[in-house]
Amino acid sequence: MARISPASWTVAEVEADRGWIYRLSAAESAELIAAVRRAGDASRPILDWRRDDFTLRESLPTLAAAFREVRDGRGMALVRNLPREGVTPAEFRLMTWAIGLHFGVARPQNRTSDYITEVKDAGHAYRSPTGRGYNSKAELDFHVDGSDVVLLSCYNQAPVGGMSLCASAATAYDIVRAERPDYAAALATDYTFSRNGEQSDGEAPWYAAPICTVEDGRVFCKWNRNRIVNAQKIDGVPPLTALQREAMEYFDQVLRRPENMFCMHLEPGDLQILCNQTMLHSRTGFEDHAEEDRKRTLYRLWLARPDSRRLPASWEVFYGTAEPGTVRGGMKGHHYDDARRTFDARQAATLGMRNAA
Ligand SMILES: [Fe+2]
Repeated sequence: MARISPASWTVAEVEADRGWIYRLSAAESAELIAAVRRAGDASRPILDWRRDDFTLRESLPTLAAAFREVRDGRGMALVRNLPREGVTPAEFRLMTWAIGLHFGVARPQNRTSDYITEVKDAGHAYRSPTGRGYNSKAELDFHVDGSDVVLLSCYNQAPVGGMSLCASAATAYDIVRAERPDYAAALATDYTFSRNGEQSDGEAPWYAAPICTVEDGRVFCKWNRNRIVNAQKIDGVPPLTALQREAMEYFDQVLRRPENMFCMHLEPGDLQILCNQTMLHSRTGFEDHAEEDRKRTLYRLWLARPDSRRLPASWEVFYGTAEPGTVRGGMKGHHYDDARRTFDARQAATLGMRNAA
């Protein structure tokens, strides 16, 4: 099959060419932790920090190259060798935040309108009407998150499992188009997604959007099984057709074919960056350490990016706007207050972005 976009890849291709992996040099890594320690008290409220509180110079080109790979290349990048030895969780979290301040406007991610979340098992159920994967230890379905890009920095890894899975939506959709054009057409029709009780005032509890949209030759994918299944339990939501159900099962099957599903093991000190328009991600279930301070811990950041692409019009209902380079996406949740509004406006101005939030 002829592929035109580098975002359309197979496992064999990303294994053969590891150009999507970026390694910080010792000097770049040292600069990151020095900047965090120089900035001051790591327990300060996260939204108070400004980009210029963190002086980064040497590490920026490597990080910028990784972000370019996410936008124009394979849609995923792995940055290795973030400082980890002797670094506290609070410092590691703040370092992730500091990187975010240099490369975008962080977006709220959940009901409590958090701008950076700790991905750690808190015993929550993934398969519930309001369930989210990040505070469970369950195996997750392939999905996209709700912002232009997602950053996941690894502080501790589980002793068993917790593998990170990635698959190219473009590759999977091309295969569906070739094998089952009827399913490909169904995936381009509206599905209803639940907001899982995370809607803010004025937002409906659900919205409709296609799973796959092709625009300017690019596949934009908005796949999240949990939210589609949950929406079917809400009064007034149109039932899925049999064809729509079959199409989503088929799409998932294609994503899970060994030639399409890439398995990445995140080590402590790794930073994964993914595009949420072309790249689907997932995680295997895991068994954790018994000791609290060794438990699997990652920090997740959602960013709107200054160089983001125009989105299909059908994405506006979730992202707020389809305009490129704007502050868009995220889930405002129930606590989108003045502190958050002020942060969004200030950070948008710092990066020269229009604030549509
Ligand atoms: Fe996710």
